[in-house]
Amino acid sequence: MKKPEVKTFDSPSECARAFGDYLIKAAEKKQQYNCALSGGSTPKILFDYLADAYQGSEVWSKMNFYWGDERCVAFEHEESNFRMAREHLLGKVGVPEKNIHRIMGEADPKKEAERYADELMNFLPFKNEIPILDMIILGLGTDGHTASIFPHEIELITSNNLCEVAHHPDSGQKRITLTARVINGAEEVAFLVTGDNKKEKVSDILNKSGQWIEYPASYVHPISERLTWFVDKAAGALL
Ligand code: 6PG
Repeated sequence: MKKPEVKTFDSPSECARAFGDYLIKAAEKKQQYNCALSGGSTPKILFDYLADAYQGSEVWSKMNFYWGDERCVAFEHEESNFRMAREHLLGKVGVPEKNIHRIMGEADPKKEAERYADELMNFLPFKNEIPILDMIILGLGTDGHTASIFPHEIELITSNNLCEVAHHPDSGQKRITLTARVINGAEEVAFLVTGDNKKEKVSDILNKSGQWIEYPASYVHPISERLTWFVDKAAGALL
């Protein structure tokens, strides 16, 4: 298995800018570009940069947006990943509604995990019954989780389903998450990780040291072998 590429930048904004330009360049090469967004706070800086730097670009008409995970809350809830993406990017650059494939956090979680799996199969190219995204953007939790696969539910990594219902370890909040089956089937995966509080996990995962085997993010190895970590200096300080 090829080692992931690691790109390190001086600051979170430089990291976001570099990844944003990389993403747009990749999307511009294709007729249609299917991208799954991550949630949490890190992507906000990326979305704000994209909305500003590529305002008015034609690329938005060819990009289709999916999510790696979603909290089981209403779409106008402050914790909704869709709401954050709409406020910081999608609503600003006028992505056509038909290009937005949100996970319905307000729905019954089990039914939504099944529905979203069907949506992925209906709209995306697939191979061996696995839907193929052009890009999956992932974040990294301080506990080594990614998407909404947390260490206490690490068995979701090997699920045969495309989507699963997960539970936040502290709040118990239900989440819908892509499984490693979809993540590792993507054409390309990029981690976007910034901040001093992530440096130990980044180092353990990339160096296979410490408790790396317990971290779901350690199991992100796309079959395409196109995996890049975009980190700022703080998150990459121990590499
Ligand atoms: C979510 C995310 C999650 C996130 C990490 C990092 O829904 O919260 O998909 O996997 O990427 O928790 O979050 P921060 O960027 O807020 O540190």
